[in-house]
Amino acid sequence: MGLRFPNHIGQAAGLDKNGRFPGISSALGFGHIEVGTVTPGGQPGNERPRLFRYPKINALVNRMGFNNKGSKALADYVSSVYPKPERMSPLGINIGKSKGTPLHEAIDDYLSAFTDVVDQADYVALNISSPNTPDLRKLHRREYLEPLLSEIKSHNAAWAKKKGCKPVPCLLKISPDEGYRSIENIVDLAVEHSFDGIIATNTSARITQGGYGRLEKGGLSGMPIEKSSNRIIRFISRVTDNRLPIIGVGGVFDNDSATRKLDAGASLLQLYTSFVYNGPSFPSQLANSLAYRKMRWS
Ligand SMILES: Cc1cc2nc3c(=O)[nH]c(=O)nc-3n(C[C@H](O)[C@H](O)[C@H](O)COP(=O)(O)O)c2cc1C
Repeated sequence: MGLRFPNHIGQAAGLDKNGRFPGISSALGFGHIEVGTVTPGGQPGNERPRLFRYPKINALVNRMGFNNKGSKALADYVSSVYPKPERMSPLGINIGKSKGTPLHEAIDDYLSAFTDVVDQADYVALNISSPNTPDLRKLHRREYLEPLLSEIKSHNAAWAKKKGCKPVPCLLKISPDEGYRSIENIVDLAVEHSFDGIIATNTSARITQGGYGRLEKGGLSGMPIEKSSNRIIRFISRVTDNRLPIIGVGGVFDNDSATRKLDAGASLLQLYTSFVYNGPSFPSQLANSLAYRKMRWS
């Protein structure tokens, strides 16, 4: 992607929805920081309670529903608290569609958010995979995804031409609940439209299938989704001959689970749930132990 990452461990989207503290995340040791998801106008999200802890299974369930202050506000915050020239860790900006926008107008939301954030982003992530925005995951289908990727690509090219620079790297964040045929389709489209990578995966909506008893409605994250996330990473890596960068996310909890994701084909990792349970010293601890382990093995 033409970016330099100081380590493998990034902050997953959703932790800093409005881009308020990327400098602090970088100081805690995150080697890249993905802020958002933001939508063009901002929105309040779902009613509380909307975030639930399940410490016995190292999991969270959330149905936040893209609570955010909007893509313009995020770009403003980020430009003041984490300006481009002072960045130690690359900054990804994750964008989505508003709850009230019908699916056939979703492209307008992505384009408008893209235009707001592109100047500030080291990469842009299109989130088509949150289970908490009605119909959002239908964007995995070719009929919606094809025009979306094509429009983003041409906006990106026009932006780059105007600025006299390269287009910003664009990644697609996908769901762990997709079948192989759908993933193959998505990967084909991503390659065809020169997307720079895939972020695999978001939370799972299959909360009843793990035998964990009664869980709240929403997206399941943490240890229970590690296997499905790795299954998707392995598949993407195989069908692309490992040529499309993959950011692996979902159940990274320690050195072993991080190594399993890298072995499955991820080039970079992100985490959210393990940060909630393990606290602020965790990102640098994990990044260091991973670097040490890789050094010893290489
Ligand atoms: C409370 C919460 C909010 C989240 N919000 C977003 C979001 O706004 N956009 C997004 O792409 N992913 C969001 N995610 C998903 C995470 O970025 C990540 O993909 C998922 O939690 C799996 O990683 P983990 O097992 O390390 O938590 C959210 C996750 C949680 C737990």
